[in-house]
Amino acid sequence: MATDGADSALTGPVLGIESSCDETAAAVLAPDGTILAETVLSQVADHAPYGGVVPEIAARAHLAHLPALVADTLARAGLGYDGLGAVAASAGPGLIGGLIVGSQFAKGVALARGIPYVAVNHLEAHALTARLPGLAGNGSLEFPYLLLLVSGGHCQCVAVLGVGRHQRLGGTVDDAAGEAFDKVAKLLGLGWPGGPALERLAAGGDASAFAFPRPMLGRAGCDFSFSGLKTSVAQEVARHGAGALPMGLAANIAASFQRAVAEVLADRAGNAMDLFAERHGGSALVVAGGVAANAAVRAALEAAAGARGFRLIAPPLRLCTDNAVMVAWTAIERLRLGWADPLDTAPRPRWPLDSADMRPASA
Ligand code: KG4
Ligand code: ZN
Repeated sequence: MATDGADSALTGPVLGIESSCDETAAAVLAPDGTILAETVLSQVADHAPYGGVVPEIAARAHLAHLPALVADTLARAGLGYDGLGAVAASAGPGLIGGLIVGSQFAKGVALARGIPYVAVNHLEAHALTARLPGLAGNGSLEFPYLLLLVSGGHCQCVAVLGVGRHQRLGGTVDDAAGEAFDKVAKLLGLGWPGGPALERLAAGGDASAFAFPRPMLGRAGCDFSFSGLKTSVAQEVARHGAGALPMGLAANIAASFQRAVAEVLADRAGNAMDLFAERHGGSALVVAGGVAANAAVRAALEAAAGARGFRLIAPPLRLCTDNAVMVAWTAIERLRLGWADPLDTAPRPRWPLDSADMRPASA
């Protein structure tokens, strides 16, 4: 879907917009990747009463907040719309209402200002974030590297071979890791999103108190599964009858569940690293997504990476979770190759990272 654009050379800062799920975000980056301004508005409070993201509420909230949020972000970057060199939006995968809001807004700016528009794949944006100047230590992170994306909506291992060149090595066959955290947190009577609250509760618990199953552990390949683990926790909670669990018991369940998830993630990522090293010869593992905030998960991944001579790179949390810096940066990476997108590019609720149209036909 991307087109070669002789007119897509980058002439000024890039505005990125993110609205694929429940964060409304905007960022302005200089052509060299320097972050000039960034804003993330979380809709957590809007969705919390329902225990999860409600697509219609998300779309309406994006529509209500995006224009002022972009204006404020531009002002803090010291720019007006006339100072922009390009504009980009997450165009999929995600909730279609939010994708329409963000991409239509971006196309409007592109049309009005006569600047290139880039339809960014949200997963590629997570994948390329670690290449932001300065994020991976000295120098930039070179291709190829391995990405483990673990969020509320995504759980997959991807070989990142280049801009627009990705190979999915494995993914979840049921729940995403963050989804499992959220569901178990709900069983334990914690709020939504549940990951952070569950981690806090687990800190006071005994991780060896319950021997919950470790789905897929020890199996070949790098697919994931979490629904059996969640069911096992649900059965344990049910065994103790209706009503609130005693605090100590809830903490032990949380800690034991968290350890099971960390071990499964490290095992599957370990297989992915072996496969990736064999196929592509790289030795960097980038972890992204909200679950990457979890200290037990990070420690398990650190150990699995260290055992294989891999370097673990975890972008700072605000860039690991949904944000617009990653959208603007991905646009910069694509525009540097002369790739922009026509204004009739439709947003796509499903858009796998390894689909054929991640690059222009001529690339
Ligand atoms: O990347 P993210 O902010 O949003 C998307 O899902 O796209 O990830 C949110 C997910 C939620 O499921 C949340 O419960 C989980 O990441 N999460 C955590 C932690 N912080 C966020 N899971 C475990 N431990 C945490 N500290
Ligand atoms: Zn995301």
